[in-house]
Amino acid sequence: MEQQSFDRHLLHYGRDFLNQLIIRADGSYLFTADGRAVLDFSSGQMCATIGHNHPKIVEAMARAGRTVVHLESTMLSPDVIALAETLCDLLPEPLNKVQFLNTGGEANEAALKLAKIATGRFEIIGIAGSWHGTTTGAASVTYAHGRKKYGPMMPGSLAIPSPDAYRCPIRRCKNQCDMACLDVGFDMIDACSVGEEAALIVEPIQSAGGVVVPPKGYLGRVRDYCDQRGMLLVLDESQTGLGRVGELFAFSSENVVPDILTLSKTLGGGIPLSAVVASDDVADTARERGFSHYTSHTSDPLTATVGLAVLGVIVSEQLAERAAAMGDYLCESLLELQKRHEAIGDVRGRGLLLGVEIVADRSTREPGYELIKALTARCFALGLNVNQVGGPHAVWRIAPPLTVSRDEIDQAIEIMDQAFKGGPHPHG
Ligand SMILES: Cc1ncc(COP(=O)(O)O)c(C=O)c1O
Repeated sequence: MEQQSFDRHLLHYGRDFLNQLIIRADGSYLFTADGRAVLDFSSGQMCATIGHNHPKIVEAMARAGRTVVHLESTMLSPDVIALAETLCDLLPEPLNKVQFLNTGGEANEAALKLAKIATGRFEIIGIAGSWHGTTTGAASVTYAHGRKKYGPMMPGSLAIPSPDAYRCPIRRCKNQCDMACLDVGFDMIDACSVGEEAALIVEPIQSAGGVVVPPKGYLGRVRDYCDQRGMLLVLDESQTGLGRVGELFAFSSENVVPDILTLSKTLGGGIPLSAVVASDDVADTARERGFSHYTSHTSDPLTATVGLAVLGVIVSEQLAERAAAMGDYLCESLLELQKRHEAIGDVRGRGLLLGVEIVADRSTREPGYELIKALTARCFALGLNVNQVGGPHAVWRIAPPLTVSRDEIDQAIEIMDQAFKGGPHPHG
């Protein structure tokens, strides 16, 4: 299908549209209009963690259709209460207060506003390479993409370097981050801040920024820096939350509890549902001071009904444990592939959130920017969808649904292998 046929009425909002239509999705597969099955190793836009069109999601949508879909924002349905209870039961103290919204950006807007009203300050620190959304507040602390040409960002938006061990931002570490970037970053914050630090927002693994995995202990040291300055810690677990990294929350094994947690993509399993979860202290102070953050679909019954179904599947089918096991298998397979293909500079990640860095030269680490585009197109033609992330660097984000089978992983590896080997294009 020609790109021009999409251009008549669809506004372009970023990269070019895929030049094929998808007419059905099921489990790990997408089905194209020309009759091909494609393994989806990007889980849609990283949301279809329990597989596309999971029967429990379809059933929950139908049930909401028979009961209640939408209400005025002050009205609550039983499923909204049940989802808040279920979620808080999975979280440590004092994360006890939830608001349900729709997108990750909206949840992060709420998180930043909560942090500001609770601390009475306005400066927000983000990490270079981060992605928190495209609404203005979230975009102001998003450093991976989209900052140019829209005028001023939110006053008080500051940044520290990304803990990228493969491409150390302060040209110090090689393959193992020693957190000097964090220490230097906070020296810079102390130099630049006007003394109004409200919060630091961080993804436990930077996903859109290139699947950058901080070293063990990083979040703990971030927490200490925040505490020393009376700032709040906001964790954005849009992609890492609810099982993908092999545990329910990426912060669980880090001995750190944030003041505010945001969840989105993985909570709705493909339906737009997000959550901001605050500590009792933050929520109570914000309420006393008149916190206000309404959207038309906050606390909507339909999305809550689906969210309950998604959480039910993740917990009852032990998908976090499954992600850990399947992630190990996938990672080992990718490392084997790396032995055969020079263009794979690095393989990294946790659970089923893996990154494969494509390089033009393994010794200089020059990004394989043109190569990754060709490889991605070739994989799709051969029946595998993988997402390119990492901005100017060339990284595949490999993130199949947590329900992926070993056989599907083997098929995906075989396709990548063929794509690296090149040869004639499988579809002309
Ligand atoms: C970590 C993270 N937070 C927030 C967002 C924004 O979510 P949304 O696109 O639903 O607004 C994204 C989107 O990719 C993300 O990766």
